Amino acid sequence: MENKKAYIITGPTSGIGYETALELAKRGTVILVGRSKEKLQQVERTIKQAGHNAVSVVCDVSDMKSVKQAAKQIIELGLPIVGLLNNAGIMPQKATKSTQGWDMTFATNHLGSFMLTELLAPHLPDGANVVNIASAIEDPERKPAKIMGMKGGRYISAEASTRGEWKAGGAKMAGIDAYATSKQCVLASTMAFARENTRLHFNAVEPGITRGTNLGGANAIVSFIFGHLMAIIPPFSKYSSTPKKSANVITKVLTDISGKTGIYFDEKGEPMLGSELSRDIKFQDRVVSETRALLSKYN
Ligand SMILES: NC(=O)c1ccc[n+]([C@@H]2O[C@H](COP(=O)([O-])OP(=O)(O)OC[C@H]3O[C@@H](n4cnc5c(N)ncnc54)[C@H](OP(=O)(O)O)[C@@H]3O)[C@@H](O)[C@H]2O)c1
Repeated sequence: MENKKAYIITGPTSGIGYETALELAKRGTVILVGRSKEKLQQVERTIKQAGHNAVSVVCDVSDMKSVKQAAKQIIELGLPIVGLLNNAGIMPQKATKSTQGWDMTFATNHLGSFMLTELLAPHLPDGANVVNIASAIEDPERKPAKIMGMKGGRYISAEASTRGEWKAGGAKMAGIDAYATSKQCVLASTMAFARENTRLHFNAVEPGITRGTNLGGANAIVSFIFGHLMAIIPPFSKYSSTPKKSANVITKVLTDISGKTGIYFDEKGEPMLGSELSRDIKFQDRVVSETRALLSKYN
């Protein structure tokens, strides 16, 4: 059974992605896509030591040239791919630029996963699953995010996002508008793809407030808030998760064969609603067409 299926996962070298890669390896060959060759080799070794199969593809998902090369390499592997999981993501406080000179958070979280999906989709068999990891921070009405002063996605346009420009009136916490906007685009694109492409299945997962990952970097205060406080203090505790629990939910969605598409799952694997804007079909289509226009010269 193991050799008959293959799953691609981006960002398998820490947190939720690492645990999901180990889970997926029990079900097929895992194509590990990450920016550090050394870290990938370590995950590959762990999977192989457990008697499973894995292959590594080095890719910086924030760099569109690297994404293009990785997609080519993945196709050339000739493996029976039945699932693509776009998990790699960042939430830095400080804004930096990607290789193309774009906002690093937007390039990593939205543009990289969008481009990888577009390049691989024609090569995936009928019924294959594409799962994108979103975040409830995109929703300005989401209770835990609202309490923390987050204002949801602040999309002006794809071009403006690459320049790190967000709609006025955003969060006071550094980096949050970029993160929320990028994840709103991830969610909106997932829903647009599900409508556009009925040959494949596209779903999104909000993994919950997941402690013990590297998201947010090495900031001790952020780690403490996400690692300990949120797991016990309501209403945050209601949405609390661990990388292992998130991995189980994500694996279930990625390996599902019932044909579900266009669904946004919460940290318990139940369908949830995204922000009002992310559910607006016109907004979804606008995000997709503007992103396509932006990426057209890299295809
Ligand atoms: N933790 C939460 O509470 C939470 C909540 C909602 C959504 N999420 C989402 O869940 C996903 C996983 O996050 P996590 O919490 O597990 O964080 P994490 O531990 O920091 O893992 C992020 C993964 O993405 C990889 N990555 C980052 N930038 C990359 C790039 N340019 N190219 C290739 N790979 C890159 C990292 O690789 P390196 O090991 O090389 O750094 C790592 O493997 C993200 O999309 C995140 O936004 C997390």
